[in-house]
Amino acid sequence: MLSIKNLSKTYSNGKQALDGVSLEISQGMFGLLGPNGAGKSTLMRTLATLQDADTGSAFLNDIDILNDKENLRQVLGYLPQEFGTYPRISALRMLDHFAVLKGVVNKGERKELVNHLLNEVNLWDSRKMAVSNYSGGMKQRFGIAQALIGDPKLVIVDEPTAGLDPEERRRFHNLLADIGSNTVIILSTHIVDDVSDLCSDMAIMGNGKILINEKPKDVIAKLEGSVYSKVVERNELSDYEANYQVLFSTLVGGRTKLNIVADSDPGAGFCATQVNLEDVYFSTLRDNQISIAA
Ligand SMILES: Nc1ncnc2c1ncn2[C@@H]1O[C@H](COP(=O)(O)OP(=O)(O)OP(=O)(O)O)[C@@H](O)[C@H]1O
Ligand SMILES: [Mg+2]
Repeated sequence: MLSIKNLSKTYSNGKQALDGVSLEISQGMFGLLGPNGAGKSTLMRTLATLQDADTGSAFLNDIDILNDKENLRQVLGYLPQEFGTYPRISALRMLDHFAVLKGVVNKGERKELVNHLLNEVNLWDSRKMAVSNYSGGMKQRFGIAQALIGDPKLVIVDEPTAGLDPEERRRFHNLLADIGSNTVIILSTHIVDDVSDLCSDMAIMGNGKILINEKPKDVIAKLEGSVYSKVVERNELSDYEANYQVLFSTLVGGRTKLNIVADSDPGAGFCATQVNLEDVYFSTLRDNQISIAA
């Protein structure tokens, strides 16, 4: 169990990135959704002991994350949003090096572990290639292999699927889904489908605050019956925005489909539609007056 209480952080330029964040996260996959600048990476880096919070506490079971960084690092697997530049050394050598850092000192044991991980993330055939030459998806899979060294109890992956093609994304999802069920896994993302596909629990963050923290199926059930959609012309969008509570619009086969939220049937050609997590996401941002840059 990961227990976060009242974490706040203001950067030296005056930007408050975390504003009283509290969360209780159980074992399994937890989705942290939020638009750009919400504070997701700040929270992830704080939990990964890479930066300090101004106030608050965070415990992984009985490990005091903010004050006992060494112990936390022993059980942490972290895939940062930006990995920096990848060195021109092979995946094999790099994983071996990371395993040494994680304290796997026995050479035979290390070899077995590294080989196992390379197979697991489907990089065995390219194990001798420099990681700097990997494609985006391969780098992410390498990143998860690196994060899984040493049987971590807390795995943090920050925006892992941004920029991946659908096939790589699916592969990455499967990898995450295979991590043991006694591990707390936090997946931070602004891609709603990542959370719908993978997470049994989640929170939505905006402006440094937790806006909601509920299971996807429960928040979806709450909105059920109040989302309506209609296919409209693109040039009518601003009229609709002025007259309805617009959640979002998507292009479907070249046409613009608009989702709105309404207490009762709005008529005007709108049809009641099945609620999905995207509706919840946008209605939460809307309720909190958080706009997302298109
Ligand atoms: N080192 C820093 N110094 C000053 N401000 C920062 C720093 N890092 C982040 N910020 C600001 O803090 C806020 C939260 O940033 P953060 O990177 O945590 O958001 P995020 O939710 O991860 O966004 P994204 O989806 O773009 O990755 C943003 O306004 C950002 O500009
Ligand atoms: Mg981020």
